[in-house]
Amino acid sequence: MSSKPLVIGNWKMSLTYKQTGELAMGLKKGAQPFESSVGVIIAPSTPYLDTVGKLLKGSQIQLAAQNVFWQAEGAYTGEVSAPMLLDLKCQYAIIGHSERRKYLRETDGMVHKKVGHALEHNMIPIICIGETFEQRQEGIKDLIVMKQLQNALNGIVPAENARVIIAYEPIWAVGTGQACDPNEAKETIQVLRHALIDMYQKHIAKNNFITIYGGSIDDTSIANYIDNEIIEGVLVGGASTKLDSYLGMIKAVAT
Ligand code: PGA
Repeated sequence: MSSKPLVIGNWKMSLTYKQTGELAMGLKKGAQPFESSVGVIIAPSTPYLDTVGKLLKGSQIQLAAQNVFWQAEGAYTGEVSAPMLLDLKCQYAIIGHSERRKYLRETDGMVHKKVGHALEHNMIPIICIGETFEQRQEGIKDLIVMKQLQNALNGIVPAENARVIIAYEPIWAVGTGQACDPNEAKETIQVLRHALIDMYQKHIAKNNFITIYGGSIDDTSIANYIDNEIIEGVLVGGASTKLDSYLGMIKAVAT
């Protein structure tokens, strides 16, 4: 359970170094009045994490990585570990995003190992789960998302004070401008919440897991999704890469 609604911005590979710095600085200033009621987490491109972390000093905005590997160190060319991210004060890691599953062939098994590694090092994983349009048409959406959730966690028990964020991101809604209907998103997240209750003791399912939605959210739609109970936040791509719309989303859910 999250105490504040989370607005997590995934900047993907969309911004240059200069644009990243400018957006981070704009957010630092613009989000400041809302920090007590909204949790803002940003995931810039990996090479910019260090700079952004330094720019954000004095702000409550937190850093997320767009990926993390499952080993702490060694001969793994191109990969980044949880201890390396923690060195940069980056406490969150997006794991199993549909773009990585698609372009990098990331499997449920890899997602599972990454989640285990992140939790072992006290990072907060943001696990992305979602069905394709065809799977939805076939009527197997619930089955698919439950399976992904089970495979990602598969015996992992979060420590008492650990947090795990589950992001329901229907693949057909990511980057398409075609968001999932808020009621349907809530129903599917309820399915995931019930699956968590089947997998864990009730207090763990309730207290250690945060459930959020992602897929074509913007400042005009965000308020229809967040209810602080089933949908406790959003993971946003496109609309988080522009200062006006990112601030608009924060304002829309601030209390
Ligand atoms: P979008 O991306 O907001 O551009 O649909 C969401 C995501 O990739 O998490």
